[in-house]
Amino acid sequence: MGMHWHGIPQPHVAVIAEMMGATCFVETGTFQGGTAAWASTMFKTVHTIELSEELFSKWSPVLQSRGNITCHQGTSPAVMRKLLPTIKETTIFWLDAHYSAGITAGKDDECPLLEEIKIIRETMDLTKTCILIDDARLFMVPVPKPHNVDQWPTVQEVLNAIDPEGKDFFTVVFGDVFFSVPVQYKRLYQEFLRNHYQQNKENAAAAAKESTEATKASPASLIGMA
Ligand SMILES: C[S@@+](CC[C@H](N)C(=O)[O-])C[C@H]1O[C@@H](n2cnc3c(N)ncnc32)[C@H](O)[C@@H]1O
Repeated sequence: MGMHWHGIPQPHVAVIAEMMGATCFVETGTFQGGTAAWASTMFKTVHTIELSEELFSKWSPVLQSRGNITCHQGTSPAVMRKLLPTIKETTIFWLDAHYSAGITAGKDDECPLLEEIKIIRETMDLTKTCILIDDARLFMVPVPKPHNVDQWPTVQEVLNAIDPEGKDFFTVVFGDVFFSVPVQYKRLYQEFLRNHYQQNKENAAAAAKESTEATKASPASLIGMA
């Protein structure tokens, strides 16, 4: 697994799910269902929420035919307010309901992230909850044009919403994702990340060595004529 995974970092999420014994996955922003379909192979229960009626009508029959995915149509905060009190399992949230132009919905409220986090904090058992937020890069700096900068929280607001008193979660930004795990998993999760960094460093060193060796080789040997 590299540092920059496009979309949900599947192997990384699999490690967290195993560490926490998570059986439920909740996604905001279904889009075409790629992540929900993957999650259905990993988790007992999957909920995915999509605002666009068009995307919902197109993809929910396909996703729901898998048997363990429930598709919800509506704005994520409204759906979450009803859905979350019914969930008692250890849950991983994938917060990805970000307006992304094209066929996606949400132009009037491009990023309902703070409201989503507030509902999670108010309704879930935080010792059994992991929060993942996609597109971390868009919160690190003022969101680029043509997004509406007034509708996107700053990194400071995101971190403050997740853990206002700094006692519930251990949060890191890795690749393009915020990962917040319950604080009791801090040590275990830190060890996983440290080993992962070490492995990346060793892989990069091996690749650099290989490419230096190849540069030293004669052109004839490179095409198998030496
Ligand atoms: C970046 S895409 C999601 C990609 C998907 N999670 C995945 O991993 O493949 C964002 C989706 O969020 C939806 N969306 C935007 N605002 C929303 C809202 N307030 N509530 C629910 N969905 C929303 C968009 O229509 C779009 O389909």
